[in-house]
Amino acid sequence: MRAKVFVALALTVMTASAAYAQARTNAEIIAARKSQFMEIGAAFKQINDQLRQDVPIKIVVTRASTKVVNNLSQVGANFPVGSARATGVKTNALPIIWSERARFDQLLGAAVQSSRQLQALLQSGDFVGARNQVRVVGRSCAACHDRYRVKE
Ligand code: HEC
Repeated sequence: MRAKVFVALALTVMTASAAYAQARTNAEIIAARKSQFMEIGAAFKQINDQLRQDVPIKIVVTRASTKVVNNLSQVGANFPVGSARATGVKTNALPIIWSERARFDQLLGAAVQSSRQLQALLQSGDFVGARNQVRVVGRSCAACHDRYRVKE
């Protein structure tokens, strides 16, 4: 009996969250991806600033690299088909993302991979390696922006 009530409850919650996922408006989706990218940008800047110091603060850079990795790993979900634009919200995402999605996803995957390598270097305290790796990560950001983001 209790199990049945639990299953029914679980199903209600699942249905409700599925409905919520569908109910997200384009404006909300675009706002979500923009705020993820802002976090990525701020965290990546923090890492670069720290690595310019003689003695970077390890906890600061490792936390920041985790933010970059986590947000980059999740941001793809905020580019669903049909979210190229919304009224009232500015987006810098170019519509060709959705006509060549495999290439976009590949660049995203490469950026995730290069930032995971950066995270590992920072965690092991290899700041010399990290100083090289931030350039690799920076190029992986730029590779996508050059093709898929509005130039300002
Ligand atoms: C696979 C593509 C891709 C990768 C990789 C990527 N970005 Fe972006 N980025 C975008 C797109 C597209 C937008 C615009 C999103 C929007 O406005 O809807 C964006 C927006 C941003 C913004 C918000 C401000 C703006 O100019 O629109 C920042 C900051 C940013 N990215 C930083 C980074 C950093 C730092 C990295 C690498 C660590 C990175 N991005 C990697 C595609 C990417």
